[in-house]
Amino acid sequence: MMTLDSQILTPYDIAGCSLKNRLAVAPMTRVSATETGHVIQEMARYYERFAKGGFGLVITEGIYTDQKHSQGYPFQPGITDAQQAQAWRAVTDSIHAHQGSVFAQIMHAGALSQGNRFVDVPAAPSALRPKGEQMKFYYGEGRYPVPRAMTEEDIADAIEGFAQAATLAIEFANFDGIEIHGANGYLLDQFLTDYTNQRNDRWGGSVQARISLTLEVVKAVRKAVGMVPLGVRISQSKVNDYEHKWAEGEHAAEVIFGSLNDAGLGFIHVTEFEAWKPAFPAGRNSLVALARHYAPQVALIANGGLHTPEHASSVMKDGADIIAIGKAALANPDLPQRLASKEMLDEFDPSILGPIANIKSSELTLA
Ligand SMILES: Cc1cc2nc3c(=O)[nH]c(=O)nc-3n(C[C@H](O)[C@H](O)[C@H](O)COP(=O)(O)O)c2cc1C
Repeated sequence: MMTLDSQILTPYDIAGCSLKNRLAVAPMTRVSATETGHVIQEMARYYERFAKGGFGLVITEGIYTDQKHSQGYPFQPGITDAQQAQAWRAVTDSIHAHQGSVFAQIMHAGALSQGNRFVDVPAAPSALRPKGEQMKFYYGEGRYPVPRAMTEEDIADAIEGFAQAATLAIEFANFDGIEIHGANGYLLDQFLTDYTNQRNDRWGGSVQARISLTLEVVKAVRKAVGMVPLGVRISQSKVNDYEHKWAEGEHAAEVIFGSLNDAGLGFIHVTEFEAWKPAFPAGRNSLVALARHYAPQVALIANGGLHTPEHASSVMKDGADIIAIGKAALANPDLPQRLASKEMLDEFDPSILGPIANIKSSELTLA
């Protein structure tokens, strides 16, 4: 039997969007779109299960933003034109039908692109081969290619891509909000990270300079979509560097969260492997607690191993407003209902994601 912090099942208003509870599905790439990046019916059925199972908010998988360098994987969905945006209506309608809300996560893969049908060579802050190996479950193989360093024009195109994708998401696809993917090693995080950003122009150097591309994207998206719920996802770890800690430690947290707070965001989504643990070896505060301290004006979504009531309560005490659940939501699309009725959760079975992370028909029969 589980005990539950009863606050988790209370309604919450995130930047003007009313959620029926504080449980969100974390963004999870499932490489199940068509080759041309269009959403298919199975994806709508997959997403619908979470809303039907009681999640107040669903955050989509990372959606690529432009027809240049943003696409990261084969079969990743895009939102680069009206047709791709229109295809997302099947997903947003299916979630709205169960009084759920849905935010689009928009992302640019940068150097971690391992499948892009528009360009051959990835673009990144600096021409450095990424650490690690491509992800097999997203159709990757071997080392990452060496990207080329982005020009000012490339950077302007990337910013414009985010703004246009957000506009399409709100105006055509009927999303309730936008999450800009600034985490996990993708383009915006590559600019933020000391060792992947070796630029000596205005986009590189101090942590303030390195976060400035994220801030420019926020500004452009805000200008494009107005006062819709808008947030940024932030992490220390990366898909290709799990253990990474910000080089400047807590000073980085102060600059990053402080400047996001001042950027007029509705929310920040903080993710760590185990989000309740101290963010840095030298301190006691979790990244959630640091975000709460340095960004007092924004709503906070916390993610990372938070499917037990004990850990969820711990980060809520640290200041989180919403708990996002990843793998445990795959195993339990009805997790909020189970928590409410004190039912046990099913264990996450990693074979769902193998050999390819696409949506399996067995998942759809769980509805
Ligand atoms: C299959 C899979 C795909 C993921 N894709 C994304 C993604 O597209 N965007 C993102 O920000 N995080 C992505 N993540 C990370 C999750 O959002 C989350 O941070 C991670 O699973 C840890 O949360 P959990 O312990 O609740 O599973 C993915 C995780 C998994 C397991």
